[in-house]
Amino acid sequence: MAADTRFWHPFALMAQVRSNEFIITRGDGAYVWDSDGKRYFDATASLWCVLVGHGRDEIVDAAAAQMRELASYSAFGAFATTPAVTLAERVAGYADGIVEDPRVFFGLGGGDAIDTAAKLARRYFHAIGQPERMHLIGRTQGYHGTHGLGTSIGGIPVNQEGMGPLDPSTSHVAWDDLGALEAEFERVGPDRVAAVFAEPVIGAGGVHRVPASYLQGVQELCRRHGALFIADCVIAAFGRMGTMLGVDRFGLQPDMITFAKGITSGYLPLGGVVIGGNVAAPFWEGDGLWFRHGQTYSGHPTACAAAHANLDILESDGLLDRGIELEQEITTAFDTLTGARLVGDVRTGIGALAAVAFDKAALAEHPDIPMRVFAQAKARGVLTRALGDAVAISPALVATREDIEHAATAIGEAAAAVAADLGVG
Ligand SMILES: Cc1ncc(COP(=O)(O)O)c(C=O)c1O
Repeated sequence: MAADTRFWHPFALMAQVRSNEFIITRGDGAYVWDSDGKRYFDATASLWCVLVGHGRDEIVDAAAAQMRELASYSAFGAFATTPAVTLAERVAGYADGIVEDPRVFFGLGGGDAIDTAAKLARRYFHAIGQPERMHLIGRTQGYHGTHGLGTSIGGIPVNQEGMGPLDPSTSHVAWDDLGALEAEFERVGPDRVAAVFAEPVIGAGGVHRVPASYLQGVQELCRRHGALFIADCVIAAFGRMGTMLGVDRFGLQPDMITFAKGITSGYLPLGGVVIGGNVAAPFWEGDGLWFRHGQTYSGHPTACAAAHANLDILESDGLLDRGIELEQEITTAFDTLTGARLVGDVRTGIGALAAVAFDKAALAEHPDIPMRVFAQAKARGVLTRALGDAVAISPALVATREDIEHAATAIGEAAAAVAADLGVG
């Protein structure tokens, strides 16, 4: 047995993982290798991140060049670095016509972005003389990171278990029900709601899609009641939806957009919030107001340089269009699993991602089926992610049709093997 690790893994059952780590040592394109030299199709792109694929020298070179010049510097107060300023300009350019007169706040990842957006929503209403507007509404199955407010806004109950009192001015509505949101506005008091948070496609909660009309309805309700609409595009932005920001796919115009992951394809930690000019105004206009919030590494120049190189690749390699093609290829390949042994719902259709959920009766008896299918697919050289009642895929946009077909076949075989092992399905 391997020696116990000292590394406490995120989202892990350490009692099992402590002597059972799975070490990834190398990546190239849509593939990674483990410490035994075994090659895998990285069907998750490392937690939805690596849109341009592993091993892109352009990003490595850009980061190295920036590190030689100036690796790190704070952006508190008036300080800034050129990569942070130009990246903000670039992202604001992408948001042109989507978010009114956009500004960009940087942090280290998605959780930072969510807590920034949530605090800013509250701070904004306090600033404009509506201090009673503090309530934040999320959706069931929603995932918004694990920081303080993100934990409260998230709608996956196991992630809140035993974490003590959550933020009292937060609540959840059913992820696909506009009527429930309308009723929640009434319950809370429409003039007490600061913001509604919504992922365009629910990701970590199991890959759940809603029609564009639902998302537009959320936006409309927010507008009608004077609350802010915050689109959490941590997964959706930078190509996963085949568009630059994710919300553009659905014709949305949110007050804020949170992003992370795809901005650097995960090469370095970076996330942020695109913020509309109306929300920025009390802080940026006249004598202004402080927003006493930010991290040591907000606007980190090396991360921002890596983001530029990553965005250059997305643009020059036509990867947004590839995202749309991949969506089709995923849908075609994965829909063939409908009706397969142990398979319940196959969730495909919008975006370069999918989930294969398992038979409800079998899951009730064996809740570990997704983990078992993950293990069987891994043995077949495909890395998926077990999420709730399903396994999910979200490959790099450089994955090929053959890669996708291989993943669908491996998951189908994996499900059949688990069904045979358990004598179910
Ligand atoms: C929609 C969404 N929001 C926020 C987050 C949190 O991002 P991070 O893990 O970078 O804190 C995630 C992470 O998967 C996410 O999927």
